Order: sequence, then C-alpha cells, then structure tokens
Amino acid sequence: MLRRCLDLLGPALAEPGAVVVDCTLGLGGHSEALLRTFPAARLVALDRDKEALRLAGERLAPFGERATLAHAVYDELPDVLDRLGVPRVQGVLFDLGVSSMQLDEADRGFAYAQDAPLDMRMDQTAGMSAAEVLNTYPPGELVRILRTYGEEKQARRIVSAVVREREKEPFDRSARLVELIREALPQAAKRTGGNPAKRTFQALRIEVNGELSVLERAIPAAVNTLAVGGRIAVLSYHSLEDRLVKQVLSAGATSTAPPGLPVVPERYQPRLKLLTRGAELPAEEEVAANRRAAPARLRGAERLREGAV
Ligand SMILES: C[S@@+](CC[C@H](N)C(=O)[O-])C[C@H]1O[C@@H](n2cnc3c(N)ncnc32)[C@H](O)[C@@H]1O
Repeated sequence: MLRRCLDLLGPALAEPGAVVVDCTLGLGGHSEALLRTFPAARLVALDRDKEALRLAGERLAPFGERATLAHAVYDELPDVLDRLGVPRVQGVLFDLGVSSMQLDEADRGFAYAQDAPLDMRMDQTAGMSAAEVLNTYPPGELVRILRTYGEEKQARRIVSAVVREREKEPFDRSARLVELIREALPQAAKRTGGNPAKRTFQALRIEVNGELSVLERAIPAAVNTLAVGGRIAVLSYHSLEDRLVKQVLSAGATSTAPPGLPVVPERYQPRLKLLTRGAELPAEEEVAANRRAAPARLRGAERLREGAV
C-alpha cells in the first residue's frame, strides 16, 4: 500500500521546504520512496530500534541532509521536532507493527518459527523482555493480555500451562513456549489459523513494547504537529490499532458544536477531513505477493484548521 500512502500524502509535499515525518522508519523503504517521489521535501524519520536506524541510515545516506533520523519512540515526536526547530510538518506516515528485519532476525525472539531468547523488545536498550512478562505477571493479567492483544480464545488454558511450567523453571527461550502452547491446546483449536503460538506471540509483543498505549498518545500528537493542509497516513495491522486510529481521526473530522446553533463558529468546525472512506485494504495481488500485508488497514486525513484534536 506504499503507492497509496504516497498518493495520500503527495498534495501536501510539493512545496519547497515541506517536512514529512516517517514515524516508523524500519528499513527505510517508505522513507526512501518519500524522498524520491517528493524532491522538494525534507524527511524526519524515527524508530525505537537502533539496528533499524543503522541499516536505514546506510540506505538513506545518498540523500544527505534531506534526511534526519532519530532514535525515539513515536509518541516523542513533538520533542524531536522541538529539538530540530521544526514547529509544524506537512506530512506524517505511520507503518505500524514489526519490521521484516525484526521478524527475520531470529535472536530478537519475535518469530515463533525459530528457537530464540524470548526478548521481543523493539528497543533492546530499554524495558522488560517477553520472558520477564511471562515469568512475572500474575495469571489474570496474562489472560487479559492474550485475550485482548492476541484475540486468543484459549488464553486461560495457555496461561494455566505457563504458570505451572514457570514454577518449575522460568521461561527464557521461544521453542519451549511454542511447544507448551501446542500441548496445551485442544485438537480443534490447533486446526484453525496457522501456528497455534502466533496469537500468543503477537500479544506478548504488543505488551512488551506498550504498543497500544504509545499509539494512543502518538496519533493525536502527530495530528497536532500538522500544519493546515498537512496530511497523515496510518497503516495498521491489528484491529485494536486500527480502532484507535479511527477514533482519533473521526473525532477530529467531527464538528464539536453544541446542537442547534444556526451558524457553526470556526472554533467548533472539524479540524480534519478524512481522506479514506473507512479503512482501505490491500489489493488481492499485493497480499498474494506479500502475505504480511494481508491484515493491513490504511486511513488518512488532512488538517483543515488550527485547534488541537
Ligand atoms: C512495519 S516496520 C516499518 C517498515 C518501514 N515502513 C519500511 O519501509 O521499512 C515498523 C517499524 O516501526 C518501529 N516502531 C514500532 N513501534 C514504534 C514506536 N512506538 N516508536 C518508534 N518506532 C516504532 C519498529 O521498530 C519497526 O522498525
């Protein structure tokens, strides 16, 4: 859906001096496309993963001073822009979730298909690992996480097995967890939807990285950095992410006027105009070419006027 992101952001990025922020730099594919497609624009790109910044830094080196990369969690965007002396930006892109690099690097522990230390931190310099979550959280909390972030129907069964096993020996590697989930699930549950460990791994990753609470702060913060006429595009891969994005953009696109006013004063008018009807989905060909694109949902909006969302 890269092409569609570029189309959504494009009208805001034609003027010289336009600034576009890629909040999820990853390996720099989207950033590179932004720099190539909009030669008048300057890029600020963030990632919380230092390895991503290193690799993308090499890729974007030919663009010289047009690209500024920062190690930051994306809810820190206003501080990063403050430090750079950039008061307002014309475009913001989020491509949420894990990068293919994080999934492919076995020792990061994101993938259930390979045995690795149970880490899953996008920023390996901070926070709790997946093993610490699994070994120390109360059972009820683990059940909530698996249910909410993983939509795992068998959460209680899996957590009972985890708690029993962690008392014998704490978890430190992924293969033991995968094996335990396989053993804990009833036959019928094993037959549906690929590897039975997938949902538990997703849930742990979301918890370890505080993904939803960060996103809840980051989307309004990003919208509030947009200049009038600036545009935002967000690619989500999970219904909870998409719901958060939808709430913020829809609220910004709604008038806050009390009912019954004959003329709606400027201060109550919507701050945003939605650029997508509902969430846009990837085309069938895109999913055929890249399985990881299947759950993608794209939403975009344009800033119409000043005033916080
Ligand atoms: C799906 S990848 C982005 C891929 C990128 N668009 C590309 O073309 O390579 C998501 C990236 O966002 C980063 N990320 C996830 N949550 C983040 C957060 N809260 N703050 C900063 N970076 C984050 C991850 O480390 C990962 O590198």
